Amino acid sequence: MRLGRLELWPPLLLAPMAGLTHSALRTAILGFGGVGLLSTEMLAAARLPAERPASSPYLVRTAQESPLSYQLLLADDKIIGRVFEALHRLRADAVDLNLGCPAPQVRRAGGGSSLMDDPDRVRRIVAAARKQTSLPLSAKIRLGETLSENGLRDFCRMLADEGIDMLTVHARLRGEPFTRPPRWEWVAKVKQWVDVPVIANGSIDSVDSARACLKITAADGLMIGRAAARQPWVFASIAREVYGVAVPEPDVRLPRLYADFVASLNERFLPERRLGRLKEFTHHFATNYFFGHHLAAKVQASESIEQAWEHAEAFFALNDSERTQQG
Ligand SMILES: Cc1cc2nc3c(=O)[nH]c(=O)nc-3n(C[C@H](O)[C@H](O)[C@H](O)COP(=O)(O)O)c2cc1C
Repeated sequence: MRLGRLELWPPLLLAPMAGLTHSALRTAILGFGGVGLLSTEMLAAARLPAERPASSPYLVRTAQESPLSYQLLLADDKIIGRVFEALHRLRADAVDLNLGCPAPQVRRAGGGSSLMDDPDRVRRIVAAARKQTSLPLSAKIRLGETLSENGLRDFCRMLADEGIDMLTVHARLRGEPFTRPPRWEWVAKVKQWVDVPVIANGSIDSVDSARACLKITAADGLMIGRAAARQPWVFASIAREVYGVAVPEPDVRLPRLYADFVASLNERFLPERRLGRLKEFTHHFATNYFFGHHLAAKVQASESIEQAWEHAEAFFALNDSERTQQG
């Protein structure tokens, strides 16, 4: 699959997730393989030019973390020149525009899904971005506020006409919670409306759900979010089983995975930035265990990363057997 000048294979993409898709998680995923495009978490565009790449938890990366798409949260086109200068300096492999985030603080600032209410502003942003860069440019959307075929079709076509190279569709309306089944059939509609590659996103967490989603959507690729934090080997499994890619069968050892994750945080993040990220990750990772809520609660209550690690070691000693791990 092509994203501008990048060839993505397999067409399995890591979703941008605030607090989760940083260097440590990306490294865990790469350890298993099967991922075609990595992502940063969303980056506040206005702050980007001043961030320090060596110490910012949003920007820290190793040379192995490639190709890496940088996701921008931006509300207007005025700062785009400076923002893309920074992205070129950072050697972004691709840039994604966040048009779907429903978080109230993001919407109040005029970003995320509020942009879908103002297609003219989005048109200006995309046109300005396209002028500033030859990097692959993508956009990530939800289905909108309410279901509207005409509205969504016009919006998607506008993005493609202005030079977006790939469109990712999180198949839910703005207000819909993750517990609601995704509306994959709407990704199939988008796929028919535009010529650029369309990526399906929403509740893809296994080989079976990947197959089911592809069958319904005929999407050019799949984007995986929460399952990547729970099971960083999910890309390798889908790459092997669905796309026939020759990556090794995942050799999953949860305590080692967790230990490596903690080591990556310690190596790459400033001390005050480590514990919060471990708590975010543990919230998802712990669901691999029947008694994972015990681990999550202990890590949540920890006051240092060392204390969190001690709790995790004690938990693994008691719980790490075949019987106590979930699917
Ligand atoms: C903790 C968390 C943080 C997220 N942060 C972002 C973000 O920064 N940018 C974005 O476009 N979507 C964000 N999302 C949405 C995901 O990218 C994705 O669209 C959503 O989780 C559905 O995919 P999934 O079912 O595979 O998790 C976030 C989701 C979660 C759970």
